[in-house]
Amino acid sequence: MKILVATEKPFSTEAVKGIEKIVSDAGHNFALLEKYTDSSQLLEAVGDADALIIRSDKVTGEVVEAAPNLRIVVRAGAGYDNVDLKACSARKIVVMNTPGQNSNAVAELAIGMMIYMARNEFSPGTGSEIHGKTLGIHAYGNVGKLVARYGKALGMEVLAYDPFITDKAVFEADGVMPIGSVEELYSQSRYVSLHIPATDQTRGSIGYDLLTSMPKGGTLINTARKEVIDEAGLAWALEERPDLKYATDIAAGNQAELAQKFGKRVFGTAKKMGAETAEANMNAGLAAARQIVDFFESGNTRFQVNNF
Ligand code: 3PG
Repeated sequence: MKILVATEKPFSTEAVKGIEKIVSDAGHNFALLEKYTDSSQLLEAVGDADALIIRSDKVTGEVVEAAPNLRIVVRAGAGYDNVDLKACSARKIVVMNTPGQNSNAVAELAIGMMIYMARNEFSPGTGSEIHGKTLGIHAYGNVGKLVARYGKALGMEVLAYDPFITDKAVFEADGVMPIGSVEELYSQSRYVSLHIPATDQTRGSIGYDLLTSMPKGGTLINTARKEVIDEAGLAWALEERPDLKYATDIAAGNQAELAQKFGKRVFGTAKKMGAETAEANMNAGLAAARQIVDFFESGNTRFQVNNF
């Protein structure tokens, strides 16, 4: 089988070597397309691929069409909003992610961003401490749980809301206060760390109302997806509430306008970097390779995210 790693934003060299070893030790062929600048390069590369490992690379209907042999796509990471699941399912192509493999890297970035914003982007002047402040975790998955744990270690009072977790004991077991609604979470949290995926239900769902309900000094940390933010509502909230702050990985569509208007109250990374650590590259990349080898060997579909 030909297993193609197609990553516009490449894995570390060590991770690529590790993936190649897993693939060739299992008797498969390894191919690599890195740092491509045009989708036509991906369309060409997938032409004879049986399996595909990607990061945030877009697997559109066109990519699926260009890959007649494709049987499995593994998104080395958590969010798979970049994969056209319908197009894959129609062709019975299995789509998987590698849940949890890059969570620690993202959680550390969320905490780092919190401190960065509390200290006015490390510029001169009086900042504040996150110790003793409330931290609301919006969605309690792999990353949310870690941010909660690290927030507690830093002396924060941690609250959490997750629409899919109804059992309060899940939160209480971690010393986290369960919150019954998204509105309550924002209105009670000085910091909110966002961990919802981008879906039809969540796109544009965080905006003016939630942001302006936050307590004085409210700061939203977004290491999830920029698409979940209503950017016009965000700009309006920042305008009306000079105490609010927003940090995001990656830059909002209107980041230049936000930076110009709100200066150090907003921060956005130039390129999504939450999972950009040597450790996360290794964890997610190698897990993706193993999942593919396992799928071809035994039909294991444990991490499949689509249905057909
Ligand atoms: C994820 O969903 O796993 C993260 O957003 C990481 O994305 P990346 O692989 O493009 O860095």
